[in-house]
Amino acid sequence: MPQARALINRLGFNNGGAAAAAARFDALRAAGRWPSIPVGINLGKSKITPLERATEDYVDSLGKLHAHGDYFVLNVSSPNTPGLRTLQGRDELDALLRAVQAKNRALPSPRPMLVKIAPDLGFAQIEEVLELAGQHGLAGIVATNTTIDHTSLPPDAPKETGGLSGGPLRARATEIVRFLAERMPLPIIAVGGVADAASAQEKLDAGAALVQLYTGFVYGGPTTVPEICRGLR
Ligand SMILES: Cc1cc2nc3c(=O)[nH]c(=O)nc-3n(C[C@H](O)[C@H](O)[C@H](O)COP(=O)(O)O)c2cc1C
Repeated sequence: MPQARALINRLGFNNGGAAAAAARFDALRAAGRWPSIPVGINLGKSKITPLERATEDYVDSLGKLHAHGDYFVLNVSSPNTPGLRTLQGRDELDALLRAVQAKNRALPSPRPMLVKIAPDLGFAQIEEVLELAGQHGLAGIVATNTTIDHTSLPPDAPKETGGLSGGPLRARATEIVRFLAERMPLPIIAVGGVADAASAQEKLDAGAALVQLYTGFVYGGPTTVPEICRGLR
């Protein structure tokens, strides 16, 4: 939706899985092409894994990929894998964080573990996530994923199912970043509607430690990031 600088996606993790990713990462390292900057790896359960076995899926992916990630993000907020977002509920998230952190701590070098939340959570639900983040020793929160609330699109926009990102998500994502920053000391990775220096600065002003972008990069192309960095300086 270029007129709104927005995207709706319903991909649902269409990739070869953790083992395939690990093999590609090994090949990159062997070719001397591994980046010198920190690499974060985002984990989401496979669509074919039943929800009752979600925890095993995350633990298994962490085991396969831990050597490659400088930090990990548990994605419990994509709207395109049925049931995934129920893992943000108190009991479900408690069980997931317990199992993942047990695996993480048993690894030779435990990695900083973050959780990524949906912009569609209410503030009471976000407070529950915060409490669990503290209890389970998370290193930070990534806010936010795409939204299933499409009401901010212009009335003539095509009706599509999936997660909405880009310009229409910007204000809600910033609101959540500010809510988090006012309540917790952990670093926040802010994402949602960042496309230029002003929208990146907005996230930093709201309390973000780091800023990510996806849709802004799609529209702006490879020069977007250096332009943002120059603008911020
Ligand atoms: C095509 C596409 C695929 C995405 N895939 C993932 C994903 O696999 N895991 C995830 O946590 N977020 C995923 N996202 C969400 C983005 O990481 C980001 O949280 C969201 O798009 C909001 O940021 P933006 O407005 O800069 O795009 C995806 C977004 C898009 C547009």
